[in-house]
Amino acid sequence: MAAVVALFPFGVNAQFMMFGSGNRASQDSLRKIAAADYADMLSKVGVEQTRGGRQPNSQDESKHPNYDELTANPYPFYPDPLVTENGKKVRNARMWYKVRRPEIVRLFEEHVYGRIPDNVPGVTWEVTNEEHKDFGGTPVVVRYLKGVVDNSICPSITVEIQANVVYPDNGSTKLPVIIEFGFGGGDPTRSFGNQKSWQQMVIERGWAAATINPSSIQADAGSGLTSGIIGLCNKGQFRQPTDWGSLRAWGWGLSRLIDYFETDKTFDATKCAIEGVSRYGKASLVAMAFEERIAAGFIASSGKAGAAGWRRDCGESIGNIISSEEYHWVCGNLIKYGADPLTENDIPVDQHELIALCAPRACFISTGSWNGDKWQDVVGSFISASKASPVYELLGYKGVGTDLFPGMDNGLMDGRLTYRQHHGGHEAGPNWPYFLDFFEREVVR
Ligand code: GCU
Repeated sequence: MAAVVALFPFGVNAQFMMFGSGNRASQDSLRKIAAADYADMLSKVGVEQTRGGRQPNSQDESKHPNYDELTANPYPFYPDPLVTENGKKVRNARMWYKVRRPEIVRLFEEHVYGRIPDNVPGVTWEVTNEEHKDFGGTPVVVRYLKGVVDNSICPSITVEIQANVVYPDNGSTKLPVIIEFGFGGGDPTRSFGNQKSWQQMVIERGWAAATINPSSIQADAGSGLTSGIIGLCNKGQFRQPTDWGSLRAWGWGLSRLIDYFETDKTFDATKCAIEGVSRYGKASLVAMAFEERIAAGFIASSGKAGAAGWRRDCGESIGNIISSEEYHWVCGNLIKYGADPLTENDIPVDQHELIALCAPRACFISTGSWNGDKWQDVVGSFISASKASPVYELLGYKGVGTDLFPGMDNGLMDGRLTYRQHHGGHEAGPNWPYFLDFFEREVVR
């Protein structure tokens, strides 16, 4: 506690009050709000100091990330997704759904991502604008949406979810929908030079392409945890250690968008996919794991807290995720595992089990090239897919089919769970056509 007291001699709440609401605050005061929130959480979980994250630019070489495969597996034993907490082997689908899956859900909620509270208010969707236009030679409808959250429990906090959807203007109904965690405000038909946008690829296949703006659900910063949907449910107070972080909040917002698609026969909400890159790759995997209506996921370059295992030592580390810059993505309890005496090896789950929660739905784990995407641990993401595969197999589907890393541009694409490392960098780009083929085969049929 000493460090916390020194930073905030007036007490955490007094500091928070001094900086008021996030809207008018300067960058500096936002940082102070985040520091107060972070300090409050450290004291709640009883951590004085974390071990710190990897720092590629540090003068101190011992802080650099590891990229040597020979030393990347300091903790080679991962929890078995098919053994229950009391040591019983999961032998069939019934036991998976009745016993083991709920155990894994509970462990992720308790130790990694936090729980969605029982009192989350409802959302009312409005169409704010609708346009008919040409999109690369195809007539389309672009619909802009706003999901207004009922804030009667705390009227000073407003949450309005921004989303849009573009679809072929030909009267078709029951369209599959590919949804991206991205930036909801812009025109989804804007062009990027000669390169086809993902929306254009989706439209050419005759489906709908939607974007949801995560920051309109929950800010991507610790300073925002007392506002957004998390702050609204806590009536402006700091979080408790098992309260949800931004990743789960973004997933909650996506679930509400799926509710909207369920109300309009233009769309087939049973055929929707989520895609995201980097932090939004993490969000996509978290959303898909917990929301069983999501039929497919394109999980791109998601790294730690996404597809890459905590037990791996390659690129970013748990220390980065639980730092004051990123801890808002997860629940407070995760901080304990990045501070002595606990280690990553003490986390009672690992990320292959998050992928396993997606089973048997169509999940595509995507990474970029070794150099372009190394911070996000391309091999670790594959290892998680490989270790999740037995759950797909138990449920009667093929997983990635091997535990040997396949190398670049050599996708393991036959199963319901797939892995492909593309030649590009930290992006989804080159894997889009592969994902859309996979979605067509496994979901649209
Ligand atoms: C950082 C962070 C990653 C994250 C990325 C991003 O690099 O360590 O975990 O994926 O930011 O989202 O941009």
